[in-house]
Amino acid sequence: MENVKENVTIIENIGKILLDVERPLKERFRALFTLRNIGGELAIRCIEKCFSDSSALLKHECAYCLGQMQDPQAVPKLESVLEDLSEEPIVRHEAAEALAAIGQNASLPLLRKYINDPCVEVSETCQLAVRKMEESDTEVSTRSKNPFQSVDPALPLPKASYDSIDQLEKILLDDSQPLYGRYQAMFSLRNINSKESAVALAKGLSCGSALFKHEVAYVLGQMQNDATVKQLAEVLFDETQHEMVRHECAEALGAIATEECMNILNCYLKDEKRVVRESCEVALDMCDYENSKEFQYADSLIKAMS
Ligand SMILES: [Fe+2]
Ligand SMILES: [Fe+2]
Repeated sequence: MENVKENVTIIENIGKILLDVERPLKERFRALFTLRNIGGELAIRCIEKCFSDSSALLKHECAYCLGQMQDPQAVPKLESVLEDLSEEPIVRHEAAEALAAIGQNASLPLLRKYINDPCVEVSETCQLAVRKMEESDTEVSTRSKNPFQSVDPALPLPKASYDSIDQLEKILLDDSQPLYGRYQAMFSLRNINSKESAVALAKGLSCGSALFKHEVAYVLGQMQNDATVKQLAEVLFDETQHEMVRHECAEALGAIATEECMNILNCYLKDEKRVVRESCEVALDMCDYENSKEFQYADSLIKAMS
């Protein structure tokens, strides 16, 4: 009993950090990821309260985490976020994607409704979500496991259906192919997880819709391959790109976390677009985290050798 009470207090305190507008954004992000890892109803309710915040970046990350938690208790809130037309496209997009990640059939009518949303990012997300939910349970359970442990908006292609990175790259870059198929090629390339497959993926940053490019940047962040730093930086530099794409490039650079990445991110801390400058702030904290992991790793190696 004591233990339960203690846990409740711990979760509530982390929830307070998440909601505290006085705190630096990076601390609120760390609180969010902690709540995601704890899981359960109380953590979900704390995350849901954050949708009243003014930061689209923070809200979209809340929706992302609720999706990755795959707990149906978050469905009603995510549905209301998708239905709220005054919400920023990046937030509604992430709510729709989260509903697909949770994968309740009861969400299908709503996702179908927004396939024709005037906002392209939302309509494309709903199109992918409905298509993904058509995959059979056995396909999902056998093909969705991946080395990055994420729940993705598309399953990778069956391994027997391609025999080279080149072939996957062609599907990825072919504007005439259906979006879902291109996403499948994207996740197949990511799962190969080599320098060659990362470089092939990075070519996707210069074709397709904003949604497509932002997803390419997201998977490049997961791969953390420094062979794609230049390509990601180019898109972040380009102010004509959609802010959702620039945001995801910034976060990918944060995950790759080399000194060059940090220098680039530091240049955009005062970007005109709030989503971009906040992404750089969070991305620099990700760099710190990645580099401290490496430091600890190096430290333990030294200890093991001595
Ligand atoms: Fe997204
Ligand atoms: Fe994002």
